Amino acid sequence: MKTRICGTGSALPKREVTNDDLSRIMDTSDEWIKSRTGIGSRHLAVEETLVSLAANAAKGALEEANVLPKDLDMILAATLSADNVLPTLSCELQRELGASNAVAFDINAACSGFLFALQTADVYIRSGQYKKILVVGGEILSKLMDWNDRSTCVLFGDGAGAAVVMPDEASGILSSVQGSDGARGGVLSCPGRKNNNPYVTNDAGLSFVSMDGQEVYKFAVRTVPKAIMEAVEKAGLAMEEIDLFILHQANIRIIESVAKRLKVPMEKFPTNLERCGNISAGSVPVLLDDANRKGMLKRGDRVVLAGFGAGLTWGASVLTW
Ligand code: ACO
Repeated sequence: MKTRICGTGSALPKREVTNDDLSRIMDTSDEWIKSRTGIGSRHLAVEETLVSLAANAAKGALEEANVLPKDLDMILAATLSADNVLPTLSCELQRELGASNAVAFDINAACSGFLFALQTADVYIRSGQYKKILVVGGEILSKLMDWNDRSTCVLFGDGAGAAVVMPDEASGILSSVQGSDGARGGVLSCPGRKNNNPYVTNDAGLSFVSMDGQEVYKFAVRTVPKAIMEAVEKAGLAMEEIDLFILHQANIRIIESVAKRLKVPMEKFPTNLERCGNISAGSVPVLLDDANRKGMLKRGDRVVLAGFGAGLTWGASVLTW
């Protein structure tokens, strides 16, 4: 029994902000951002909530999978930027969709979040416990950015993607690997909200995402190819047999470096960071939906999904479409 992705969906906020738009509010340029990251523009949530984006993405996935919300057994939402601390994004999504029979909880593994949620769903499906699971990855990271720090705020975008997974005899997830390295977590962090406890006197107050870009870069280009090689080997396949690689969209140079290390042509690595930026947990499912809607995925195709990010965390799965 395998876990098959039967439907995908995605949603981006209406407001598109180009690099040139950013250069009007901070000291940056299209040339700097594009040459170092490949990013040309991103969508930023101005009116949307994360649950509204996630619900739109979920509706697309449910429709393609021909599943009604009330038939869902489980909702897993991967995010680090839910609208509220409580209730969770997944429970809010359950309410929005009317998925009254589902159990719902969030997973936070930063940019690896969708991979980890998908891999969790896979375990539930293969155990026979649940049959219809909605997996969502989405972020409104723009609210966690320090808009005075041009080295991070230009990199990220907002959006959500979703997949409905169900058991299948023939197609689906063939192998997965995941990993974490908490000892190196300091290279990408966001300490969070202000501590209101009257007995705490040394709270640093509100803070935003901070990143040691070069360390994150080194981590990604070393770890991601290794994780993909392990997953492909575990699936009993050769790298040449993989048709498409859907990677977390952090930076075009990271993707090019991974492709080079795997000796796979860049044509097998679709990207959307040029118009979406880095959507963290949303980036893999949004790109997967792009590829699906464009007809780039045919039944039987072999696909690698890979995520990596804060924690540090990383994960890769190989599946047949
Ligand atoms: N516009 C113009 N200049 C800038 C900008 C900007 N937006 N940001 C930084 N600079 C300047 C810096 O101030 C610095 O100037 P200085 O030399 O006068 O001090 C100069 O550009 C170089 O800064 P660096 O931070 O050293 O730039 P670097 O070449 O390392 O590129 C980048 C930064 C693109 C973030 C790179 O480190 C990288 O690709 N890292 C990978 C990390 C990543 O992609 N993270 C995404 C999130 S994490 C994830 O999803 C896993």
